[in-house]
Amino acid sequence: MLRVPLLESGFLQVLSGRRVSPPPIWLMRQAGRYLPEYRAVRERAGSFLGLCFNPELAAEVTLQPLRRFDLDTAIVFSDILMVPNALGQALEFVEGEGPRLDPIRGAGDLARLDLQASQLRLAPVYDTLARVRSELAACTPVIGFCGGPWTVATYMVEGGGSKDQAAARLWAYRDPGSFQELIDLLVETSVAYLVGQVAAGASALQIFDSWAGSLPEDEFRRWVIAPTRAIISGVQAKAPEVPIIGFPRGCGVLAEAYVRETGVDAIGCDTSMPLAFIQEKLQTDRPVQGNLDPVLLLAGGEQLERRVGKILEQLSGGPFVFNLGHGILPDTPPEHVANLVAMVKGR
Ligand code: CP3
Repeated sequence: MLRVPLLESGFLQVLSGRRVSPPPIWLMRQAGRYLPEYRAVRERAGSFLGLCFNPELAAEVTLQPLRRFDLDTAIVFSDILMVPNALGQALEFVEGEGPRLDPIRGAGDLARLDLQASQLRLAPVYDTLARVRSELAACTPVIGFCGGPWTVATYMVEGGGSKDQAAARLWAYRDPGSFQELIDLLVETSVAYLVGQVAAGASALQIFDSWAGSLPEDEFRRWVIAPTRAIISGVQAKAPEVPIIGFPRGCGVLAEAYVRETGVDAIGCDTSMPLAFIQEKLQTDRPVQGNLDPVLLLAGGEQLERRVGKILEQLSGGPFVFNLGHGILPDTPPEHVANLVAMVKGR
């Protein structure tokens, strides 16, 4: 399996448990609408999905933030909803509204999903990754990713984004057996997808479980922790050396169980997690990543500086990757990102 030696990457050193100073930094959704050069390429591609399926343009937008800012990793440009789309679920991104999928409502709809066909449909993402790998400096890693099965399932069942993920929760309560089948299918597809991304040149992986916070304890263990553990052991069987970051957004104190029980190499912390909790309950066990409020990055100014200082003070004594607590917002001025990177790098 193709692996580029990235011994000089501070990001990978942190993920292996070492403290690096100044801490490495990358930003969730670092490629996106806040960059005028992204908007130009997106226009050329015609649509967001058209961009994701065009390896040349997707590689270009992956690299854009690294040309502008001194970021320590790239993240392949794609979307967590590429997986349901590859399984055969119709998907479109409606301007100003977000994703819209043809919803899967129950056991009877599962037959519509085709695991065999999915790998072929995901091939353009592997191509994007290989292009990015060949264009980046040898010491800059590329992150591959997928959505957490629970989060992806919420979009598949709701047919889009939702406030409370009620349709998925309802299915999971009423008929856990068939919901488990959907989750198992997503685990299997995600393992193949992540291993494919490693083969194409990914040096680290992240699992985005954006709606992990909508479940009570027992369901969190069943639909977030167990599938994440299954993905991690599946990937480790094929690519044992590639670190995996878990991002169980909104899970609060259940983050401790998540870290202990999933086998993640590092945990991405969301905006709401108190720094003392991160430092004392998570970082003592595993490297941590996070957790600046993206709204504060949009706001800029003195408050931003103060908060960045506080995060650095509290977390840079251990293995730590600086990041946001959720994705960068489209109205964020690029100068604020440049200032943030300079602050973190101590310049
Ligand atoms: O981080 C990166 O730069 C890599 C690219 C990336 C995108 N989406 C590109 C994108 C990643 C890692 C994602 C993850 C993703 N996608 C998540 C998990 C993280 C999170 O934000 O919670 C989720 C839930 C999705 C699903 C999704 N994709 C939604 C709900 C939307 C619509 C909302 C929005 O921001 O427009 C998208 C669209 C999307 N994915 C855009 C980008 C750059 C914007 C589309 C555009 O260009 O018009």
